[in-house]
Amino acid sequence: MPDRAAEMAHAYPARGGRRPGWPARLGALRVIVGRVELRPVRLLDGAAWSKIRIRDEYHLAPWEPSAPGTWAQRHSVAEWPGRWAMLRSAARRGAALPFAITVDGRLAGHVLVGNVVREPLLSAYVGYWCDSRINGAGVTTAAVALVLDHCFTAVGLHRIEATVRPENGASMRVLEKLGFRREGLFTRYLDVDGAWRDHLCYALTVEELPAGGLAAQLVARGRAERG
Ligand SMILES: CC(C)(COP(=O)(O)OP(=O)(O)OC[C@H]1O[C@@H](n2cnc3c(N)ncnc32)[C@H](O)[C@@H]1OP(=O)(O)O)[C@@H](O)C(=O)NCCC(=O)NCCS
Repeated sequence: MPDRAAEMAHAYPARGGRRPGWPARLGALRVIVGRVELRPVRLLDGAAWSKIRIRDEYHLAPWEPSAPGTWAQRHSVAEWPGRWAMLRSAARRGAALPFAITVDGRLAGHVLVGNVVREPLLSAYVGYWCDSRINGAGVTTAAVALVLDHCFTAVGLHRIEATVRPENGASMRVLEKLGFRREGLFTRYLDVDGAWRDHLCYALTVEELPAGGLAAQLVARGRAERG
């Protein structure tokens, strides 16, 4: 008689509590514009978050879910405590890992691991944005690499998905540099920038991780340095 528990062990990694791997600080990886690290979002991020988000409206709005109110209203300093509280509550339930990206200690963007579903799927999605003043320097790729390594180890996830509009060349490039597989097209998937938009679905499972992880691969390829 096969031991059913042993057979399924791969699908049920032993993890403590209902929010393994959270809270966490990740990094550092050094890229040309500075030292990239991740930490949980903070209540005190409001002023820096609002400043970047309002300045970068035209850079961010074409890729983000539609919502009521103007961009400026939705990204005022006063909006942050409510958003932060929702993110913190999702993190406490084990449903999300809301990371702030910092470069040399300053807020530069977010990586959100959301819709965390534990057994039997062990899956989640990843989303991200980064201050346009430092785009193209490898910050987001480094940050997402660190987060994914963490999700596939300490958090114990098996599959991470990312959906992206086919027009978003920079985001697709981030995913391709990290080895995501393109799985297909989700038709009229998400209401973004005022209309239901098609999205490409990309995914990565733990079996596809390079030996040593994604951050190590970026270092080996000369795209980042440790520390
Ligand atoms: C997508 C985004 C997070 C990328 O951040 P970033 O820090 O510039 O990312 P990286 O520097 O790590 O990598 C970007 C890559 O895209 C490339 N790129 C930039 N614009 C591109 C375009 N229009 N088409 C194809 N590639 C492009 C860059 O050259 C770079 O590749 P390289 O390292 O091979 O030169 C950032 O542009 C952003 O915040 N966009 C708005 C929000 C968003 O789109 N979020 C994702 C929603 S799915």
